[in-house]
Amino acid sequence: MKNIQTIVVDSKEQGAEKICGLVREELEAGRLHVLGLATGSTMEPVYEKLRASDLDFTNVTAFNLDEYVGIPATHENSYAYYMNHHLFSEKPFKETHIENGMAEDLDAECVRYETLLKENPLDIQFLGIGENGHIAFNEPGTSPDSVTHVVELTESTIAVNSQYFKEGETMPVTALTMGISSIMQAKKLIVAAFGEKKRAALEKLFAGEVSTEWPVTYLLDHQDVVVITDLKL
Ligand code: PGA
Repeated sequence: MKNIQTIVVDSKEQGAEKICGLVREELEAGRLHVLGLATGSTMEPVYEKLRASDLDFTNVTAFNLDEYVGIPATHENSYAYYMNHHLFSEKPFKETHIENGMAEDLDAECVRYETLLKENPLDIQFLGIGENGHIAFNEPGTSPDSVTHVVELTESTIAVNSQYFKEGETMPVTALTMGISSIMQAKKLIVAAFGEKKRAALEKLFAGEVSTEWPVTYLLDHQDVVVITDLKL
């Protein structure tokens, strides 16, 4: 697959190192002005390395992929909180953006976010992959034409992500997410997938056939994708 470069690493720490290297290359070449960020456990070592690095993001605008509906930025499971905690508190950016999951009018919030994305085209977008093949919160069945939208999370995603919520806490089942089309506009996609749980999704990608049931396969239609994984496929 000539649009997809795969880098196989021994560990997620080594993968994180590679991702930092790619970011450094783009930054130093003057090609990184807008960076799309992702959350989840996969990205934690990446942010740890970025925090410890000498990279300067003060001229870079950041956008996040998605956010839960109904929990505020002060909630430790919100993605706004995650980003502040793992990156922004130590690495200042020119501007940071994330969907407002507390907005009164969620549809209007999606339009606002998509407009901002159009005004600030993504140079790089980081992506994790869900066990069910989702990218951001674009669950199986999502249209390739989708832009930022409100989504009802699937049973699979709720089962996987509920581990991060404390006992007695209710996990949101609704979220706001960039759409497939919003993500595909990024010039370069850096996809990280570590561990056996991601094997099925990566196998679908490398099988080379686009399927709505496995949103990760939409990446086959993108021109510049780097997959970083510890899986030998
Ligand atoms: P994870 O989530 O990094 O916690 O595995 C990835 C995703 O669901 O996109």
